[in-house]
Amino acid sequence: GDVGAGEQIFNANCAACHAGGQNVIMPEKTLEKEALDQYLAGGRTEKSIISQVTGGKNAMPAFGGRLSDEEIANVAAYVLASAEAGWE
Ligand code: HEM
Repeated sequence: GDVGAGEQIFNANCAACHAGGQNVIMPEKTLEKEALDQYLAGGRTEKSIISQVTGGKNAMPAFGGRLSDEEIANVAAYVLASAEAGWE
């Protein structure tokens, strides 16, 4: 995925709940490396992020059909790269 394109998608669709890689609804389920290792189904991979963004989970809405597969791949690449970088 294209990390730069993913950043714009993140700011437009995800930052309301996940600004700075945090989570305003379920504070422990952040987008930080350790939280993705602990909570994300399938572990800290681009594929796992794509699955959750496409299908949603509990209070997180599904983006499949609202974002294209390419947009979802790009935002997943951005989330993973940002987690690796510590959301600096
Ligand atoms: C969890 C990504 C939009 C609410 C997560 C997780 C990821 C993620 C990777 C797993 C984090 C973890 O388990 O530690 C994204 C992306 C979004 C997006 C890339 C935009 C395309 C949103 C929005 C909301 C939201 C708009 C609020 C309306 C949540 C909640 C969880 C979560 C509540 C925890 C779900 C659970 O395990 O019960 N998100 N998210 N997300 N997200 Fe999002």
